[in-house]
Amino acid sequence: MTEAQITAEKGNLRRYILRLRDRQSIGEVEQKSEDITEQVLHLHEYVRARGIACYVSKDTEVDTRVLIRHALDHDKRVLIPVVRKGEVDLFFSEIKNLGKELAPGTFGILEPKSEFVREVSLDAVDIVFVPGIAWDRDGYRLGWGRGYFDRVIKRLPQHVKSVGLAFSLQLINKIPRDQFDLPVDMVVTESRVIRCSH
Ligand SMILES: Nc1ncnc2c1ncn2[C@@H]1O[C@H](COP(=O)(O)OP(=O)(O)OP(=O)(O)O)[C@@H](O)[C@H]1O
Ligand SMILES: [Mg+2]
Repeated sequence: MTEAQITAEKGNLRRYILRLRDRQSIGEVEQKSEDITEQVLHLHEYVRARGIACYVSKDTEVDTRVLIRHALDHDKRVLIPVVRKGEVDLFFSEIKNLGKELAPGTFGILEPKSEFVREVSLDAVDIVFVPGIAWDRDGYRLGWGRGYFDRVIKRLPQHVKSVGLAFSLQLINKIPRDQFDLPVDMVVTESRVIRCSH
């Protein structure tokens, strides 16, 4: 495939999977997100983690609120991604309270209000939970097409595990890959924990 074909194919897949994802009822999203969270809470990598980085979910994404609250309640440090206008790299900010510190940011995603921005390096965490629109069993992913998380995975410190959170309906056979796409170490769905070998 040429680069243009990969880009076109990624666009088609995004639309197709988003339609399936958005067709779920709020109840389904809640129930499956609970099941996914339950699987995560049992991962030894999570149990042992002193800190996590996690996206703050929006719309019909796998809901991460229960996971973030659990981590905060168990004295793990929690960092969330923040977009700075005009920059291609995300940075991570530590939150202490999910209810009080956030407001909609650049893409309508909840981010820390300015007085609560506390930039911290990913060295402080042991796991990063990665959002995605579609996934395959090798851990390759399709995001919103800006390359933010490809750049995050690329600069992860050696000790940090990357974990994708996905509904089963977001799993496909093979994500078209371009030169910058990088896989995660694990994908957790409501029914399985997939450990990816690469
Ligand atoms: N490490 C990188 N260095 C330079 N360009 C990159 C890098 N990673 C991704 N890109 C570029 O960013 C653009 C978007 O990449 P891609 O379509 O893979 O996004 P995505 O993984 O779906 O999105 P996201 O990671 O934001 O959720 C592509 O043009 C890609 O070549
Ligand atoms: Mg990519």
